[in-house]
Amino acid sequence: MSGTKSKVRFFRGPELLASVKISSKTPFAQIAENAGVDIPTNCTSGNCGTCLVRLINGLVKLPEPLPPGLDEYLVDQGGILSCCLVPEDDCDIDIIPPL
Ligand code: FES
Repeated sequence: MSGTKSKVRFFRGPELLASVKISSKTPFAQIAENAGVDIPTNCTSGNCGTCLVRLINGLVKLPEPLPPGLDEYLVDQGGILSCCLVPEDDCDIDIIPPL
């Protein structure tokens, strides 16, 4: 998908915080930071779960096996780790984690 543009929108609940067009595979937390949206991160390597957010719409490829910061329950709730996962298509993200 290199060269194609995806649109990533960040929400806090119903409130739209930012809408960004991206053309390279950038982790959500980095996209958010560039857009001035604050998502807390800690390990930035998929281990701690600090950067958990909720995917409302869109496509994200999950690593197999799941990183330590995610489990099947969280995935069922739309949970993704924003420090290390990237949008594969247009994505809407709620920065309130599914906990
Ligand atoms: S910051 Fe630790 S899992 Fe993302």
